[in-house]
Amino acid sequence: MPEILRISRLTKRFGGLAAVNDVSFSVPEGAIVGLIGPNGAGKTTIFNLVTGVYSLTDGQVEFGGLNIAGLPAYKIADLGITRTFQNIRLFKNLTVFENVLTACHRSASYSILESILRLPRFRQEEKNITRKAEELLSIMGLSDRRDLVANNLPYGMQRRLEIVRALALDPKLLLLDEPAAGMNPDETEQLMRMISKIRDDFKLSILVIEHHMDLIMGVCERIVVLNFGVKLAEGNPEQISNDPKVIEAYLGVAEGEANA
Ligand SMILES: Nc1ncnc2c1ncn2[C@@H]1O[C@H](COP(=O)(O)OP(=O)(O)OP(=O)(O)O)[C@@H](O)[C@H]1O
Ligand SMILES: [Mg+2]
Repeated sequence: MPEILRISRLTKRFGGLAAVNDVSFSVPEGAIVGLIGPNGAGKTTIFNLVTGVYSLTDGQVEFGGLNIAGLPAYKIADLGITRTFQNIRLFKNLTVFENVLTACHRSASYSILESILRLPRFRQEEKNITRKAEELLSIMGLSDRRDLVANNLPYGMQRRLEIVRALALDPKLLLLDEPAAGMNPDETEQLMRMISKIRDDFKLSILVIEHHMDLIMGVCERIVVLNFGVKLAEGNPEQISNDPKVIEAYLGVAEGEANA
């Protein structure tokens, strides 16, 4: 299986702290890979390095064979890596549907002039965008909430709306930062099925950070474990759940951290 993302010897220092230290792993095309580890292990920092939010101290990030280290964040998003955030970022005062439309418009191809004059290409594309937004909301089970103001959505649905917005940008690789945070077991189970469906329907690759072990073990083909910025282990769910190092550093406390 070719790799869509390859991270090699990635290092990020903040002053004296190596938040990510010499970490290497890759995401095979079409795979769902989990990134786990205790609080402060460096998981979100890896997302920030891959998406160009932080500059890296050392190492390499290749996406589809292209070296993307040092590219600005918008370029990396255009190339096909989009993400959700650990702290939900939505337009809280816009409706669910408007939140999706604003994301869809970033990939629209008409010019400002065409939109002002409402030329055919603009009208056709608006139709396509509306259809796409509706389809994405339906997959994530949000169709009947489309006219609610985002702020009035239950927390778990706000997290799902964030995923819809990330999908609206047509990613090839989707990065999910704790998508099940704050969800109860039923919601987590539903989300798990949605993540698998997204991968299958959109032929995406997914890298997911999560503390809910049932989600990680149920949905990921591979798992990378970080601890204090260093890669502690990598393997399939069975290998990871039986690895004494991982149990000692993380799995023994993981359920408590899910609520942290
Ligand atoms: N902008 C920053 N400036 C300084 N230190 C930072 C910065 N961002 C992250 N860190 C530090 O880097 C380390 C890794 O943080 P990171 O947010 O990547 O952890 P995490 O694995 O995502 O943890 P959590 O599970 O709590 O979200 C922490 O010690 C954190 O305090
Ligand atoms: Mg984090």
